[in-house]
Amino acid sequence: MRLLPQSLFGRLILILLIGLAVAQIVAASLSFYERDQALVYFSDRQLAEHDADLVNLLDRLPVRERTRVAAIRTSPRVRVRLFSHRPITPTDARPQDHRALRFLEILKTFLRHHEITGYLLRDPVPHPNHFLPFDYGYRTRSVFDIRLRNHGWVRFNYLRPLGITEWPYPLIAYLGVLALAILVLVLWAVRLATRPLSALANAAEDLGHNLQREPMPETGPIEVRRAARAFNDMQNRLRQFLDDRTRLLTAISHDLRTPITRMRLRSELLDDPALREKFVRDLDEMTAMTGETLDFLRGLDSAESVQPIDLMALLETIQADLTEQGQTVTIEGSHTRPILGRPSLIRRLCENLTQNALRYGQRAEIEVRSAGRDVEIVIRDHGPGIPIDRLEKVFEPYYRLDPSRSRERGGTGLGLSIARNIAEIHGGRLYLRNHPQGGLEAVVTLPTNGER
Ligand SMILES: Nc1ncnc2c1ncn2[C@@H]1O[C@H](COP(=O)(O)OP(=O)(O)OP(=O)(O)O)[C@@H](O)[C@H]1O
Ligand SMILES: [Mg+2]
Repeated sequence: MRLLPQSLFGRLILILLIGLAVAQIVAASLSFYERDQALVYFSDRQLAEHDADLVNLLDRLPVRERTRVAAIRTSPRVRVRLFSHRPITPTDARPQDHRALRFLEILKTFLRHHEITGYLLRDPVPHPNHFLPFDYGYRTRSVFDIRLRNHGWVRFNYLRPLGITEWPYPLIAYLGVLALAILVLVLWAVRLATRPLSALANAAEDLGHNLQREPMPETGPIEVRRAARAFNDMQNRLRQFLDDRTRLLTAISHDLRTPITRMRLRSELLDDPALREKFVRDLDEMTAMTGETLDFLRGLDSAESVQPIDLMALLETIQADLTEQGQTVTIEGSHTRPILGRPSLIRRLCENLTQNALRYGQRAEIEVRSAGRDVEIVIRDHGPGIPIDRLEKVFEPYYRLDPSRSRERGGTGLGLSIARNIAEIHGGRLYLRNHPQGGLEAVVTLPTNGER
């Protein structure tokens, strides 16, 4: 099935073309056959009438004059011979086919009172063609012996084409032009039918990372308009749903701050210092969580415009900031094509991954390389890595491998989910893998959107 074209467009064209070709061939063969039959019938009729006249003339002529008349009639297609006795039927004579019989019938309508015998002799055929549905090029000799009324016999030996002897070129040209015209129409119709599908597929693909995309135009035939309207409705509902969720989470995170502050004040009243410290630590963590959640939700909502970003410069500022704090960050490779995106988000994406590398793996090694139209950023560290079955799980919000240890280091467990979110709304990807020589590698792929 690998020969089948992969696109719907290709398949429809293929099916229609096969159908058309079969229809054309059948129609052409039928028309050749009919035309041939009609032509043969009329020429047979003419021939029979003509030769019946000749027989009637020979009947009335004295024997010595007959030879001259017979010689006049003889041509490459008809041989006329006279016999005084019943002529001998050759040994290779074959019974008459339906066409010879039909000719005989016609002949008999003109020569009602004559005795006629007929048989066939096949002429040697130079190039029989067995691939055509008709006997192209075959010829037979059709022989009729007719007893004359006063004395003797006459023999007509016709060289008769069995089938079409000449290609009907005008008809073939006409069919060709017709086929071409239909082909153009088919291409046009199939395109008309498949274009909205591709538009829909593109829109759905686009929707994956941009809920704010322009709605699809609701134009064209009814079905297309309906599909576009349904799609736009779905996009609106999705956006509404996400907006609602964001608003709700923002409200909760925001409103939680007040009770947390109240609890902090109240914890001051606790007498037991150990218990008080535990309370304060929990409350600190809750504050961090609500704060980061708010940041997260606000960050992805940012109204910042999409613009070309110089990735290397961005990475270098991150490196400079962290080096200032005494961390080790190295950058290798390069990428010159700007990427399109929101700078603060891309910065956040790279920062989150670099901070993880520093936090869990001592130092961060950043490598940048072009991968076709995409740019790939690999951030490696030299820490313990992540067990294979958790490589995906750590992307879940608030998920931490070792909550107690991570907490000491101040993590909320949102960093990776934020990072992946950012990669995806830019049409990119983010995944983690363990390096064979130890340490974790975070791989980010971002499209450069064809800008050169
Ligand atoms: N480079 C790494 N090496 C080992 N484990 C890692 C690495 N990066 C992340 N992890 C594990 O994945 C968990 C989730 O990471 P994530 O960045 O989402 O949260 P976090 O770092 O704990 O908190 P924050 O929200 O401040 O980033 C971490 O708690 C840690 O256990
Ligand atoms: Mg983190």
